[in-house]
Amino acid sequence: MARVVLGVSGGIAAYKACELLRRFTESGHDVTVVPTAAALEFVGAPTWAALSGKPVSSEVWDDVHAVPHVKIGQEADLVVVAPATADLLAKAAHGQAGDLLTNTLLTARCPVVFAPAMHTEMWEHPATTANVATLRERGNVVIEPAEGRLTGKDTGKGRLPEPAAIFEFCLDVLDRGAPSGDLAGRHVLVSAGGTREPLDPVRFLGNRSSGLQGIALARTAAARGAEVTLVAANVTVPTPAGVKVVQVATTAELRDAMLEAAPSADAIVMAAAPADFRPVATSGHKIKKAADGSAPSIELAQNPDILKELSGDRAKARQVIVGFAAETGDETGTVLELATAKLARKGCDLLVVNDVSGGAVFGSGENEAVILAVDGGPTPVPRGSKARVAHAIWDQVASRLDR
Ligand code: CTP
Repeated sequence: MARVVLGVSGGIAAYKACELLRRFTESGHDVTVVPTAAALEFVGAPTWAALSGKPVSSEVWDDVHAVPHVKIGQEADLVVVAPATADLLAKAAHGQAGDLLTNTLLTARCPVVFAPAMHTEMWEHPATTANVATLRERGNVVIEPAEGRLTGKDTGKGRLPEPAAIFEFCLDVLDRGAPSGDLAGRHVLVSAGGTREPLDPVRFLGNRSSGLQGIALARTAAARGAEVTLVAANVTVPTPAGVKVVQVATTAELRDAMLEAAPSADAIVMAAAPADFRPVATSGHKIKKAADGSAPSIELAQNPDILKELSGDRAKARQVIVGFAAETGDETGTVLELATAKLARKGCDLLVVNDVSGGAVFGSGENEAVILAVDGGPTPVPRGSKARVAHAIWDQVASRLDR
């Protein structure tokens, strides 16, 4: 259980911070909410008090004997400000301390995460850009806002990322500290999810990949400073903010998107589960049941192996290419023997091997793996969150990119 301070500044997205708060409290964390006076115009103190189970104040004049303006920050394991308005970022960048939240920011010695939300014009204004740069130089984490519908009818960059995405990001920070930025200046390309091959307008051949491991890879790479392109095949979980997302459905679409983005990528991770086979013919109408009770046969064709193609045709000589292998082991070999053969067959640099004998990985928040390398020994990654596995993969990638 960590001590988390949830700072809320005065933007309409303050209501979304209620869900963020719930996620923290339901996972057992101790949360102190520190709203600004402006935030209370949007969501009142009773809501924060009820959801956090603690009294709430905005000013330094409440409970002065307990010295909250110093204590709250000093005792925190993580401070997250969501939403962080342009005004709050400006105050934080300039070290102002006019209320309880800004005092807390000055006294905190733990990681501080800002999740900005504002109109695109305000986010892109040179004043905000400079304030964000100042905060990042000081080691604070400023998450990139999402793109999409803003308060009014307009759309653009500046939306608060989904509370689920902010929460996952914060868990990473609690687990590993503020990200190091070791992937800054790198472009990484990640595929996630499972492709679907249509049989007719309502049916498809698919697989059980949830996309969670690929999403964790994209989120953690962005947190470590990379420019990230995520090619997402039928992923239903929210995609991370600050990541370029290309949606695809079939293996052919996944291949096209990967080949298009690959030339500029320093690293490629194929976490997606492309369907290996597709129906030779797709019916333009729903296939009906036959009156005589007979079932149709489906003729299948093999799909191209994208990982093998990317590995054999590297756009950049020093590109690091990572594949995944979900293995069960069989009469021809153990999980590791089959995976070692697959690493050679695919021609990639690293292969992340999951033992799926128990079917445990699919849709689960956790994973356990061994990373095989063409240029070194295996690295076991103990059971842990998919974000932990993702970081272990990026550690391996980063060390190879730096050589
Ligand atoms: N992969 C790919 N294109 C395919 C199938 C798989 O790029 N058509 C990638 C996956 O994204 C993964 C790796 O290859 O990174 C291994 O996938 P896996 O399904 O284990 O490999 P297969 O080649 O299908 O091997 P198997 O013979 O075990 O089915």
